[in-house]
Amino acid sequence: MLELDGKQILLGITGGIAAYKTAELVRLLRKSNAQVQVVMTRAATEFITPLTLQTLSGRTVRQDFFDPNDEASIGHIDLARWADLILIAPASADFMARLTHGLANDLLSTLCLATTAPIATAPAMNQQMWLNPATQANAKLLQERGIKLWGPDAGEQACGETGPGRMLEPSALLAHVVKQFSSQALAGRCVVLTAGPTQEPIDPVRFIGNRSSGKMGFALAHALVEAGAKVYLISGPVSLPTPPGVVRININTAAEMQQNVAEQVDKCDIFIACAAVADYRPEITASQKIKKNQDQIELILTRNPDILAEVAARAAPPFTVGFAAETERVTEYAEEKRKLKRVDMVAANLVGAKQGGFEKDENALTVLWEGGSKNLPMAKKENLARSLVTLITERYYAEKHPTKDS
Ligand code: C5P
Repeated sequence: MLELDGKQILLGITGGIAAYKTAELVRLLRKSNAQVQVVMTRAATEFITPLTLQTLSGRTVRQDFFDPNDEASIGHIDLARWADLILIAPASADFMARLTHGLANDLLSTLCLATTAPIATAPAMNQQMWLNPATQANAKLLQERGIKLWGPDAGEQACGETGPGRMLEPSALLAHVVKQFSSQALAGRCVVLTAGPTQEPIDPVRFIGNRSSGKMGFALAHALVEAGAKVYLISGPVSLPTPPGVVRININTAAEMQQNVAEQVDKCDIFIACAAVADYRPEITASQKIKKNQDQIELILTRNPDILAEVAARAAPPFTVGFAAETERVTEYAEEKRKLKRVDMVAANLVGAKQGGFEKDENALTVLWEGGSKNLPMAKKENLARSLVTLITERYYAEKHPTKDS
């Protein structure tokens, strides 16, 4: 199942340079299986053509209030009823003002008045226009009425100025849309998550590392935010963007990871160890680059701390989840690991040349807990992460933890 399966999103585009980014937004929404109906104001059509959006959304773009052809297909009241969410992106200062005052002088503003669906705005305008007391007052009033304000971001603007008023990037808007529809089962919960490899230095230029890409951990962080959790992602060196809404702490070595986990873990309800932590580190890190003037050299390795086992052994541990990557007898070894490390849940997968695993985009997992197990079949890591978060949430509430409503 994809994250927005069947959801009906009415995307209102108003006049602003950020309108060009809505092509990507429509693509992302469609990729997540949402149905997208674009409604443009007249000014918006100056910035991006209806044909582009029609092609990407697969639906006739609606523009005019009095359009006999449009009315023949679906009337404006039906359109207002059709939407599960109205997202105005970009929302210009003018449109926000019209929305505040309940004007109905074009199709989009009329739909906003006529709908019972939630409305979200992604403001985009020059920073002075955003900071103007009139716009600020409008934004405040809209929020008080339950209209969501997603953004704006601060940064460089198309007009050459720098400041608040940039539209959120399409990926961040998608994350907001998904969150809007998610169950928010982990709202108010804090999760600390480790991801990626660690690098254990041999000398200033060399290290012992591994092939972990961090993809599974980052997908989990994303899925946890979607479920409403506050997420602290302690990550080894990977080349992945930070999922929106995640607090990321970058580390290199297992010792740094251990220290950062110790600093964050007290406040967390759930700890997930997804990192491929190096089991050993060089006992001594040479202060200068080691020269190749000998045929053989010896490297003495010392055991690294087991971060997951340490967290699970705390007096009042959070709900702990570990991973087990095995090349054979996956379930058996993973069950041993679960008992040995005394963790609440282990997600195990087969790794090796032919399987999914470290550097792949897809994976399959066997998830084990005391008295139960579930197979999560081969799927893209983003979707697999969502299934795993659902399972973690179920077990978290089923075990010693009170439900979020109690
Ligand atoms: O023992 P093994 O390395 O197979 O265990 C894997 C699990 O333990 C993963 O969840 C991994 O993140 C965690 N781990 C850890 N610290 C280590 C080694 C593994 O947290 N030093």
